[in-house]
This record gives sequence, structure tokens and C-alpha cells, in this order.
Amino acid sequence: MKKVSYNAILAFIAISIVVSCAKKSTPSSITSTESSVVSKTVVNENDIAAGHQIFDQNCGKCHRIYTPQEFKEKRWVRIIDEMAPKARLNDNEKQKVLAYVVANAKK
Ligand code: HEC
Repeated sequence: MKKVSYNAILAFIAISIVVSCAKKSTPSSITSTESSVVSKTVVNENDIAAGHQIFDQNCGKCHRIYTPQEFKEKRWVRIIDEMAPKARLNDNEKQKVLAYVVANAKK
């Protein structure tokens, strides 16, 4: 009998250790990956001007030309991700268009 209750205590201790460890390992902060892709990209005036041209030439084919002021930066990042392939922009052109719209985006 003595042995059984000793095992029961051991099991109890083991379970409480597992439970407390499980609690500790729960990540308390999920770091945001939303931090802007754009702000990490070096943007200069030439890129913005080139982006403006690419935008005017490629982004009014399927619908009216949207103005950068119509959307906020965060929204534009998603829109350009979706529209760049439609407009067959390469990575370089895409970055320039993004620089242009973000520079003029709704605040
Ligand atoms: C091949 C056709 C095509 C081209 C080229 C194209 N788009 Fe679009 N665009 C669409 C379609 C279709 C929609 C509406 C459906 C959707 O949102 O996917 C749309 C929607 C949009 C919207 C509205 C999004 C919203 O949420 O209201 C914006 C802004 C936009 N496009 C921007 C652009 C920009 C900037 C470019 C140039 C890089 C571009 N589009 C090139 C087809 C195109």
C-alpha cells in the first residue's frame, strides 16, 4: 500500500511539473509581422517618379486608374501584391509602383 501512494505522489508531482512548464512555454507575445515591408525598402525620388509612370501606363488597362490617395499604405501593399502579376510587372517595377502609391497614400 505504501508503495502505491508513493507512486501516486510522484505522478502528481510529475503532472504538476508538466502543467506548469506547459503554461510557461505559452508564448505571451506573438510578434507582429505586419511591420511595413515598405519602410524597410530604400525609397528615393527617382523610384517614385518611375513608379508613377509605370502606374499610369499599366494600371488603367482593366479598370480606371485609381489614385494613390484612395487607399492607405497597408491596403496598397496588399493591392499591389495582387495587381503586379495582373499587370505583369517584374519585381523592380512592382517596388517602384509601390513606392509611388505609398508615398502618396491616404494617411
Ligand atoms: C489584367 C487586369 C488588371 C490589371 C493590369 C490591373 N488590375 Fe487592378 N484590378 C483588376 C481586377 C479584375 C480588379 C477587381 C477584382 C479584384 O480586386 O481582384 C482590380 C482591382 C483593383 C483595385 C481595387 C481594389 C479594391 O480593394 O477595391 C485597385 C486599387 C487596383 N486594382 C489597382 C491596380 C494597380 C495599381 C495596377 C497596376 C500595377 C492594376 N490594378 C492592374 C484587374 C487588373
